[in-house]
Amino acid sequence: MGDDSCFLLIATGGTAPFAGKERKEVSEFMEKKEAAGRLEELRELINRHNYYYHVLDSPQISDAEFDRLMRELLALEKLYPDLVTPDSPSKRIGGMPVSAFQQARHFAPMLSLDNIFSESELKDFYRRIGKVFYTGTICLVGEPKIDGLAVSLYYEDGVFKRGATRGDGRIGEDITHNLLTIWSLPLRLKESITAEIRGEVFIPRSEFLMLNKKRESQGLSLFANPRNAAAGSLRQLDPRVAAERPLDIFIYALIAISGTKELNTHWDSLQYLRELGFKVNENISLLNGLDDAVEYCRMIGAKRLELPYEIDGVVLKVNDLERQLQLGHTSRAPRWAVAFKFSSEEEITRIKDIEVNVGRTGTVTPVAVLEPVLIAGSVVKRASLHNEDILKEKEVMIGDEVVVHKAGDVIPEIVKVLKEKRTGNEKAFSMPATCPSCNRGLIRLEGEVALRCVNPACPAQLIERIIHFASRGAMDITGLGASLAVQLYESGLVKDVGDLYYLKKEDLVKLERMGGKSADNLLEALQRSKQNDLSRLLVALGIRFVGERAARILAFHFKNLYRIASAAFEEVIMLEEIGPKIAFSLQEFFKQKETKEIIHKLEEAGVNFSLLEEEREVEGEGIFEGYTFVLTGTLSGYTRQQAKELIESKGGKVVNSVSKKTDYVLAGKSPGSKLNKAMELGIKILSEEDFSRLSNS
Ligand code: IVH
Repeated sequence: MGDDSCFLLIATGGTAPFAGKERKEVSEFMEKKEAAGRLEELRELINRHNYYYHVLDSPQISDAEFDRLMRELLALEKLYPDLVTPDSPSKRIGGMPVSAFQQARHFAPMLSLDNIFSESELKDFYRRIGKVFYTGTICLVGEPKIDGLAVSLYYEDGVFKRGATRGDGRIGEDITHNLLTIWSLPLRLKESITAEIRGEVFIPRSEFLMLNKKRESQGLSLFANPRNAAAGSLRQLDPRVAAERPLDIFIYALIAISGTKELNTHWDSLQYLRELGFKVNENISLLNGLDDAVEYCRMIGAKRLELPYEIDGVVLKVNDLERQLQLGHTSRAPRWAVAFKFSSEEEITRIKDIEVNVGRTGTVTPVAVLEPVLIAGSVVKRASLHNEDILKEKEVMIGDEVVVHKAGDVIPEIVKVLKEKRTGNEKAFSMPATCPSCNRGLIRLEGEVALRCVNPACPAQLIERIIHFASRGAMDITGLGASLAVQLYESGLVKDVGDLYYLKKEDLVKLERMGGKSADNLLEALQRSKQNDLSRLLVALGIRFVGERAARILAFHFKNLYRIASAAFEEVIMLEEIGPKIAFSLQEFFKQKETKEIIHKLEEAGVNFSLLEEEREVEGEGIFEGYTFVLTGTLSGYTRQQAKELIESKGGKVVNSVSKKTDYVLAGKSPGSKLNKAMELGIKILSEEDFSRLSNS
């Protein structure tokens, strides 16, 4: 093979053009024997510097120097293909595609882990393993649980031979060709051992973002998360694809090893794996007992978002290998380890803008518009910033990177601003002085944190009220969402919620995107909503502080909207769970002219204002559900037995003596010592009057 063909092959290999001098060195002076020696030297050099760079994260030579070594190696290997060894760094560049994945049987089954989600479950785990040993403290190893893909690696005489996915735990797929492309995976170990080793392949966060950016610019579909990207890369037949992906690997277990190496603890085996040249996570920790373990989980949990790779929890493993054996495993998971999972309720994203939202009660709230992120299974695009005080306290700026939290159905919140990530291009934000919808000056009521628009005719508020009125927890008018509410308001068809019931088909069909069928459906939904029970109507009216629970209590007690509207303040605050805030709010609401007009329109349209029979039953049935009563003294309207039956028929329980667990003491005339005891313990005391009112009898 001549000089020129060598040059050509290197060029097609995708490396930079060959410098003249090096070419000369290779071609003119290198006899095969000499080449073999130089190749060995190069392999050693490259593998060493690769180790410094990718495993220790501390490069000793420049990238250019490294590339030069790599080019020299490739050139020599092209010249003498029979001198290519299995541990040659050239293997990393991506060899030939495989036609199909071969099956690979694991020496020992690849088990899963049992998950726990709380500190109390962690205590249970610790207690469970403790029972087996009857000794004091148990030593554990804590490791971050990398959110990637488990792989099994087989080394023979110190050389990487084969790697496989987990598969069904017994047999996986041979993905050696792709694993070779991972620079932090050693191809030759520092000792010539034969061993099976396990680890997790992953893509670091920042590399993942760059990968997706690149794909976006190429018009390719984006990966949902680093884990999927890593998994997708390993399941490629063509290793050149994996070679393009920023794959990395952490090693977390030594499964089997040849020879007489004595290892007694998991901790020692991790240190040994590190000595062999593997990348072992830097945040592992030796934990002495339960308190240490709890502390470790908290510490890693707090650090989680700052780590350059994604983790979904912490793995805790019994350190003593002898004890691991004693504990054994089930068919699914070892008994000596557990995964303490973090709920993925927090993510980092960027604030694109801050908008000001006017709520239905006129409250003006700053809302962060976010770069969309996936949190707890749904895409989050906006997060409330609550009010001016919080905005100032958190020092939020437009363009900031922030930690966003979302738990279940709770509205997403900004937990923390990552000030250290600021570039200087962020923009400050302050709340406007006037309402963004009606331009009226905003006021801050005494004792309130929120800015408020008090203009009763403010369009934003009116629209929000329509949306709220129609929402599922309120009148449940299917088809009437935010965009239609805006259309109805802006077209002048609806000025308040009362107008909804006077809509006509001929008006509706004139609206954009509203066909005859949709109009019919909407009118039907409106018609249906007239039969809703009183508590729904109360919620729908959007009275401040009157949510579902308060609405039920009010509906159940007063039974009719008019009675609520005219109820005396004193009567309202008498009700269980209803305080002066709600009572004031009701008074304020019902005395307004606008409210009176709405109520009139609703009544004329035939909207139900009364407590329906079904509602009575539902309410009556379980009002004492879960409560424990004690009876004392003589009741005038009931015998003891009648009172007991009444309580039980409504889900409550009657017991004989007062304890901390008692919820109510029903006290009649001449009560006994039970009353004193109840007072001592601070238990609620009901008079007979209270009782009959509550039980509605
Ligand atoms: S040990 C027999 N350690 O979590 C014990 N697993 O849910 C096997 N994982 O399949 C696992 N980081 O893919 C272990 N430090 C770590 C880990 C870890 C991530 C993954 C692994 C495993 C899964 C179990």
